[in-house]
This record gives sequence, C-alpha cells and structure tokens, in this order.
Amino acid sequence: TGYITYDPGFVNTGATASAITYIDGEQGILRYRGYPIEQLAQHSTFIEVSYLLIYGELPTKQQLEDFTSKISRHTLLHEDLKRFFDGFPRDAHPMPVLSSAVAALSTFYQDSLDPSDISNVELSTIRLLAKVPTIAAYAYKKSIGQPFLYPDNSLGLVENFLRMTFGLPAEPYEIDPTMAKALDLLFILHADHEQNCSTSTVRLVGSSEANLFASISAGIMALFGPLHGGANSAVLEMLEGIKADGGDVDAFVNRVKNKEKGVRLMGFGHRVYKNYDPRAKIIKQTADEILSKIEGGDELLDIAKRLEERALSDDYFIERKLYPNVDFYTGLIYRAMGFPTQFFTVLFALGRLPGWIAHWREMMSDPATKIGRPRQIYTGEKERDYKPLSER
Ligand code: CMC
Repeated sequence: TGYITYDPGFVNTGATASAITYIDGEQGILRYRGYPIEQLAQHSTFIEVSYLLIYGELPTKQQLEDFTSKISRHTLLHEDLKRFFDGFPRDAHPMPVLSSAVAALSTFYQDSLDPSDISNVELSTIRLLAKVPTIAAYAYKKSIGQPFLYPDNSLGLVENFLRMTFGLPAEPYEIDPTMAKALDLLFILHADHEQNCSTSTVRLVGSSEANLFASISAGIMALFGPLHGGANSAVLEMLEGIKADGGDVDAFVNRVKNKEKGVRLMGFGHRVYKNYDPRAKIIKQTADEILSKIEGGDELLDIAKRLEERALSDDYFIERKLYPNVDFYTGLIYRAMGFPTQFFTVLFALGRLPGWIAHWREMMSDPATKIGRPRQIYTGEKERDYKPLSER
C-alpha cells in the first residue's frame, strides 16, 4: 500500500544497512571494515582479509592461526562430489560448473540446511573458503583432461590452489612466489564491494532463509554476466579483437562512441565510481611488474594502455565519468599467469567469496532483515474477458 518508488537497477535504493565495506564513488575511496584498500593491498593477505570481512576485526596471531588451520583441514572434496565433474561436457564454461558444485555442497552437508544454527553457519563458512578453490581447480583440470590433484594442506590457500590447478601428480610443482603473491593481492582487491549485483543476489536468495551454499551458488551465477564479473574475460576478448585489427585503438573507440550494438569499452565505467577505481590503480601497477618479467613484454598490455589513454582524453568518456574499473587490467595478469580466458571470472569468484559470506552472515544476524520482495509498476492490459479458441 502507499506508493511505490520506481528505480530500475536500484540506482538510488538502499536495500540494507551494512557495516562491511565503504565506497565513496566520487573520490574513488574503498575501505573494508574501515581499512583503506591500499593499506590492505600492501600489508595484508587474502586469508587475513577474509577474516576481517567475515568477523569484523583483523585477527590476532592466534585467531589467524586457528582460522588458517581450520580452512586447511576442509580442503578435500567428498569423493562422490568429484564425480559430478564427469557429467559436464569437457568444454563447459567453468562458472556454471563452479556454481553447480557449490549448490551440491548442500546435499553433502545437510547440517547446513538450518541457517539459524550459528555453529553450522560457521562450519559452512569454513567449508566454502576451503573447498571452493579445490572445486575451481578441478573445473580447470576437467576442461583440459588432466587428473585431479589432492590438496596439499601444508601449503597456503593460494599456493594450494595454484598447485592443484597447474601441477601434475607425477612431478613436483614449483610455486612461483611472484605469481602467488600477485594472485593473493588480486583476491584481496576483489574480496568485497558492498551491494554489487552478485552480493545483492546472495542477500536476496538468503533473505528467504536459503542456506549459505544455495545463496552463494546463486551469487556465482550473477557474477557470470559480462556486465559484472564476466567483464574480465570480455576485456581480453576486446583487446585480442583490437590486436587482430592491427592495434587500431582509435577505430575501436569510435565504434564505442557511435554506440554500435554490443560494443562497449569493457573494463570501463562503474555504477558507483565516477573516478578512477582505486583497485584498478593498484592492479595497473601489478600488471606492469608481472608483464615486464615476461620476455618481450606484452603487446596486449600496450594496446590496453593506449586504449586507456585514448579514452581518458576523449569527451565521450570525460562527460560520462567513465574510468577503468577493476576488470580492465586483471585479464592481462591472469593470462600471463597461464589461466585461459574462460577461467578469469572463476578467479573473481574466488576473491569475492569472503565478501559474499560476510554479507550473508550480516543479513542473517540483522533483526531488520525481511524477505527481499521488490514491488513493480504494472504496465499490462486492463481487465478483459477470456475469448474461446474459436474466436481468436
Ligand atoms: N563503454 C561505453 N559507454 C559506456 C560504458 C562503457 N564501458 N559504460 C557506460 N557507458 C555509457 C552508457 O552508454 C551511458 O551513456 P548514455 O548516457 O549516452 O546512454 C552512460 O555511460 C551511463 O552508463 P550506464 O549504462 O547508465 O551505467 P550503469 O551504471 O548502468 O552501468 C556498468 C555500469 C559497469 C554496467 C557499465 O559501465 C558497463 O557496461 N561497463 C562495461 C562492463 C564492465 O566493465 N563491467 C565491470 C564493472 S566493475 C566490476 C564488476 O562489477 O564486475
């Protein structure tokens, strides 16, 4: 009753109060639990940031040790869950594979079904943080026809993931510390971003009191789309396209400005940031460091930089306050690390996981939470009488 506010895309609607992440889009500020992203990027680790997002404070040494060791004790997948991967076509996109396997966790851990039981929520939290990297690595192994590796729990979370992804059972896998550190940093930068599409999805699904696994499986599918997490793959496809056209950045920018159907400058623009995305700043630096280590540098990085420079000095982008976002440079780094393009969005999901968990838990413990149920403005037919088939 009363009147309904019409706000397509929820541009102005605050759907929740939240104490997790602060963004000032005009100034390009991002903080997790009050800590500036730049400080976390420089000093923290992904596992510590996960703890911070979920529990609200940086862990003490003891808390961090307990958290890390709990996670490392839950990295194995149930042997029956591993058989799920055989059911998918080999060329399946890894995002729906990831989402399906996470949804399936509800069937293996039926203690997760009651979301009001805090000890079960705690266990589901640990299980997700531990098992999603294993699932992601197996989705990759399946796509290239290689055997699955059991997790090695003497390794850190990121190192273990890299080994399960790129290692082989018959050979020792040497972890490249630069690569592990860069991936850890990228995970930190993706770990939360308040009420984005996938996090809002996790909250909406969870508001019906669906369990953590079900809600996060839905969030993974929201992240799949090219306007959200899928943008990191789309950027690389765009750069490859420009390269194939002889590296002509101007021609591409003109197509974007002419609003040719389906042509956007991927990795640019953001609903909230009307300034340089602070994450993109940090990532650009990392891209330089990582790619400079590769012989001959990278032609696509050169195209990306020229494209950025060209766009930032063009009125179309200036007027609309379109700046590079988090996805503009990540694909180049993932590619240099050896990940296939299709897999980039899975890496985003691994990073965003603690944010999704933190939001689901915050929502569940907030007495103001109600089931999410938006309203609509009806634009259909007025009442009319049913016509029998013979009269239509
Ligand atoms: N290239 C060209 N024009 C753009 C772009 C772009 N990337 N982004 C926005 N615009 C234009 C848009 O056409 C519109 O112009 P006009 O007023 O003439 O119609 C104006 O800028 C406002 O855009 P909007 O679509 O109303 O903005 P939005 O807040 O609804 O969309 C966005 C935000 C991120 C979906 C959009 O900027 C976009 O499609 N970007 C490319 C995809 C991308 O990089 N996504 C990753 C986002 S960040 C991380 C994540 O969430 O995964």
